[in-house]
Amino acid sequence: MAAVQISELRKHVGETVTLRGWVVTTRSSGKIAFLVLRDGTGSVQGVLSRKEVSEATWAAFGALTQEASVAMTGTVRDDPRSPGGVELSVTALEPLGASPDYPISPKEHGTTFLFEHRHLWLRTGRQAAIARVRHEVEQAIRDYFYQEGFTLVDTPILTGAIGEEAGNLFATDYFDLGKAYLAQTGQLYVEAAAAALGKVYCFGPTFRAEKSKTRRHLTEFWMVEPEVAFNDSDANMRLQESFVSYIVARVLERRKSELAELERDTAPLERVTAPFPRISYTDAVARLNQLGSDITWGRDLGGDDETLLAREYDRPVFVHDYPKEVKAFYMKRNPADPRTVLNNDCLAPEGYGEIIGGSQREDEHDTLLARIVEQGLDPEAYRWYLDLRKYGTFVHSGFGLGIERTVAWIAGLPHIREAIAFPRQIHRLYP
Ligand code: 4AD
Ligand code: MG
Repeated sequence: MAAVQISELRKHVGETVTLRGWVVTTRSSGKIAFLVLRDGTGSVQGVLSRKEVSEATWAAFGALTQEASVAMTGTVRDDPRSPGGVELSVTALEPLGASPDYPISPKEHGTTFLFEHRHLWLRTGRQAAIARVRHEVEQAIRDYFYQEGFTLVDTPILTGAIGEEAGNLFATDYFDLGKAYLAQTGQLYVEAAAAALGKVYCFGPTFRAEKSKTRRHLTEFWMVEPEVAFNDSDANMRLQESFVSYIVARVLERRKSELAELERDTAPLERVTAPFPRISYTDAVARLNQLGSDITWGRDLGGDDETLLAREYDRPVFVHDYPKEVKAFYMKRNPADPRTVLNNDCLAPEGYGEIIGGSQREDEHDTLLARIVEQGLDPEAYRWYLDLRKYGTFVHSGFGLGIERTVAWIAGLPHIREAIAFPRQIHRLYP
């Protein structure tokens, strides 16, 4: 008798099959018993009649508790009323692993408790739906760049130069070479790769010792960072809107049941099509002041400002050309207004805030060197990076999209820590 997966049961109507999985719920009238089993591909109800099963199977049923693992054998029956369209008339149960006092019951638990039990919490329907949305987002990213002719370049996690800012680095001792830093970004390395391969991207974990405990910050998060030779800031934003629309459309198309499980209103997602509106930082500050924010020119937008501004639009919005003081050293000085740089953030709607940071890169050797010195960084650590401006410098741009923020937005999650299987936060390293 073949072991089959619950997702394939429809193809086996009338046959006797064995399923292996975990118990969701059990209930019994004394004569008839019901068991909902899930196996990771779906769930199905098994029905046992006391008269028709052996004493051993009836006793095995009685001993089952939530999340016990079990092999369930029975005949597959059409059942239009059940979610998967089928039911199992059980003939035998073989207990595999007991589950006494499973900590997560169907009743409500607090968030702290659930995150302490994250390794078990992952088994619930909502968490599985989030995992599948994330998986779809990541696959869509890889497919998009593959189709568009980008080459994937894996960049180092241990680095000798600060990628973004000195304030939130994780450092570790590195043999005789002093400190190594966990990568905040792969960008500097994909810039080198762009001069070799034209259109490239990296996709991996990045690390920031963020002191902030907001619902938008993790200390370890995944970021995808494309970099394109000869793209200016305008082309960079066009790439972003095409990319983000593609990802959202893929999830809408292929993850309908997960979005339904998450009770995600898909109407705002359906509107995510290119082009996205654009507003300069300077105009954004003026607009925010009209809307009641006390932001002044020169300050970075805070989370509340982002929410307030994004509410003005029905799809993601680009805010471009920020003051150079609030942005990283590598951004290209804006020739039209040297107080600003040729960068953009992309703000998601519905209060999710910045999902992308991108920019055209400073391609002029002496200007870049001056910025490095100005920021108190060690030019020696950036010698190789400055070489890119010495040997065939080129206009180039790229961006970084944060996976957890994107998943939180698309899945409609209240906090990004649910968007990754095992979140790392300032006060969380377990499990
Ligand atoms: O804006 P950021 O810092 O940009 C960079 O790192 C550039 N090097 C990217 C590039 O141009 N190649 O980060 C990019 C994105 C943010 O928009 C956000 O989505 C995410 O990374 N991000 C975080 N996500 C979760 N937790 C944090 N602490 C994050 N910091 C940034
Ligand atoms: Mg940013």
